[in-house]
Amino acid sequence: MKGIILAGGKATRLRPLTLVTSKQLLPVYDKPMIYYPINTLIQGGIKDILIIIAPDYSGQFLNLLGDGSEFGVHFNYAIQKEPKGLADAFIVGKNFIDGDDVTMILGDNIFDPSFGSEIKSFDKGAMVFAKKVEDPERFGVVEFDKDMKAISIEEKPENPKSNFAVVGLYCYDSRVTDFASKLAPSPRGEIEITDLNNIYLKNGEMKVNVFDSLWEDAGTFDSLLHVSNQMAEFTKLTESKKLV
Ligand code: DAU
Repeated sequence: MKGIILAGGKATRLRPLTLVTSKQLLPVYDKPMIYYPINTLIQGGIKDILIIIAPDYSGQFLNLLGDGSEFGVHFNYAIQKEPKGLADAFIVGKNFIDGDDVTMILGDNIFDPSFGSEIKSFDKGAMVFAKKVEDPERFGVVEFDKDMKAISIEEKPENPKSNFAVVGLYCYDSRVTDFASKLAPSPRGEIEITDLNNIYLKNGEMKVNVFDSLWEDAGTFDSLLHVSNQMAEFTKLTESKKLV
């Protein structure tokens, strides 16, 4: 299993913070944000990681993270010139994936520091993770039947069919690059991860893992502050400052 961290985009919602650096390098309590998704992939046993970044601030990522040896893993880098959509990661990362299974995590998604070992259970098809939230209309939303079998996923629906958000951690088999290459852009001009997920879902090849531990999309001022406070609590509770 290989890993991709998608850490590009323009993060206009976080201006002026993101006029000086990339969102994924901003502090979350005492660490740069990207340390958290790196840790989640490491929890999943992944050692070969592609970090996809925007051209701006790319040198800062290299200076901070280097070749990954300090983390006990290997980092590769790729530039995504324009934010063409989450599913574009599998096209940018085609040569890196090279026929293996792959897990992608979004560079601004923060999970409980002990979360991630479920990645090791990936077998075939696709596997995503869903959590109950108060504001599902901000996310990909999964609809379940009465037996909790996933039947649809909708991207930011006005009228969500459930409160379960699909979070930014996705496992796929090696067909993902081919599927992503065939996607048409959505009305907002992006190739959507939700369209990719629906291909696997319609084929009956999608596993949805519902979980209830800490997860935050740190893409807004409020969520960034909230998750920083949660990580401060966590650090004090565990008295462990070392994440990875
Ligand atoms: O956080 C989970 C949600 O992430 C999912 O529930 C949604 O289904 C999924 O579409 C995504 O929604 P967002 O609105 O959070 O996506 P956003 O456009 O903010 O992109 C997420 C991160 O990926 C962001 O940190 C920037 C980065 N990104 C985004 C795009 C579109 C890239 O690096 N390249 C891109 O092309």
